[in-house]
Amino acid sequence: MTFTCSFAAVFHFSCLNYVLCLLHSRTMGSSSPRLPPFSFFILLLEVVTASEFTICAYNAERFDEAKASDFRLLHTVNRIVSRCDICLLQDVVDSKAIETLLESLNRESDRYDSYGYQSVSSESLGNSPDDMQKYVFIYREQNVNVTGKHQYQNKTAFLRAPFAVQFQSEKTAIGSFVLVPLHSDALQAVQEIDRLYDVFEEVTEKWNNTNVMFLGDFHASCAYVTRADKKNIRLITNSSFSWLIGDKVDTTISSDTNCAFDRIVVHGEPFLKTISPFSAKVFNYMKDFKLPKREALQVSNHLPVEVRLKSSALLLQATPLLILAQSFLSAL
Ligand SMILES: *[C@@H]1O[C@H](CO)[C@@H](O)[C@H](O)[C@H]1NC(C)=O
Ligand SMILES: *[C@@H]1O[C@H](CO)[C@@H](O)[C@H](O)[C@H]1NC(C)=O
Ligand SMILES: *[C@@H]1O[C@H](CO)[C@@H](O)[C@H](O)[C@H]1NC(C)=O
Ligand SMILES: *[C@@H]1O[C@H](CO)[C@@H](O)[C@H](O)[C@H]1NC(C)=O
Repeated sequence: MTFTCSFAAVFHFSCLNYVLCLLHSRTMGSSSPRLPPFSFFILLLEVVTASEFTICAYNAERFDEAKASDFRLLHTVNRIVSRCDICLLQDVVDSKAIETLLESLNRESDRYDSYGYQSVSSESLGNSPDDMQKYVFIYREQNVNVTGKHQYQNKTAFLRAPFAVQFQSEKTAIGSFVLVPLHSDALQAVQEIDRLYDVFEEVTEKWNNTNVMFLGDFHASCAYVTRADKKNIRLITNSSFSWLIGDKVDTTISSDTNCAFDRIVVHGEPFLKTISPFSAKVFNYMKDFKLPKREALQVSNHLPVEVRLKSSALLLQATPLLILAQSFLSAL
């Protein structure tokens, strides 16, 4: 049994698991030669969840220096962002707000976790001086490399043309992938979502990479995109694209809106296969952080959406466990 537990420790499982394992071996009686199936189940689960890679998209609604300097709001945004290996923030008003956010995320004294965070940001996009917005990707520098950036140039096709970024991460089974953000103009949502196909063609050619994920507040629901509009959207009619956040999901906080505005769409079978099944969802931080609705609404009326990618290490990590299990079984 000592062997089981120290083996678990070698495989970097959390202290909690180590303790659980020890406790379990106690209750089993340390002389018992039998394999404890329960502990193994915990260990295996841990491998699966701990090593996955999370991508998120969050419309932080006019995220500016004023918002970032409100301690409570900043704390909430920090907790949302620091759950993700890559987090797309939309509707970022000024760079100062992102500086403040990163400073806080990376501060040694009250770090949100052990990662260092960096950002990659578009220019300010829009056609009205009062409403210029940036797309900003915040990412964990230990887990992700940025290998390319591309601002889509056709400014008549989009109010805020997508700023595509190619990422590479040896932590993911997919390796290299492109994220294409869109915070659509609500009144042009159908046309803009459809034009993401043109962006897709451009970026796949530019980087010779068809592992493309589209994410953000598309306004792809309620009055802006109706059932009848779907036939005019190539990202829907073409079955190479998989919509991971369904039409029935509510990505908003306010009870006046029950709309699947925020979406995640992936291109191609290879990318789809490296997505953890059923991992795409809204993250209801209001529930999770036990925030009053009033306080959550001060940050944004949107909930973040997220998806997990399978880890490259999954098979490598699971194999020794299987070998161990086998050697125990054969020792019985
Ligand atoms: C820009 O996009 C619009 C709308 O899709 C299209 O009609 C126009 O031809 C595009 N312009 C260029 C230069 O590609
Ligand atoms: C980032 O790139 C460097 C240099 O190519 C590489 O050594 C490192 O493993 C990469 N990091 C990740 C997380 O993929
Ligand atoms: C593009 O990628 C494919 C598959 O990943 C590869 O076989 C091909 O050689 C690449 N083409 C170029 C021009 O790099
Ligand atoms: C659908 O998209 C794929 C890209 O994966 C493209 O090769 C194919 O031609 C498209 N199909 C249609 C009918 O446009």
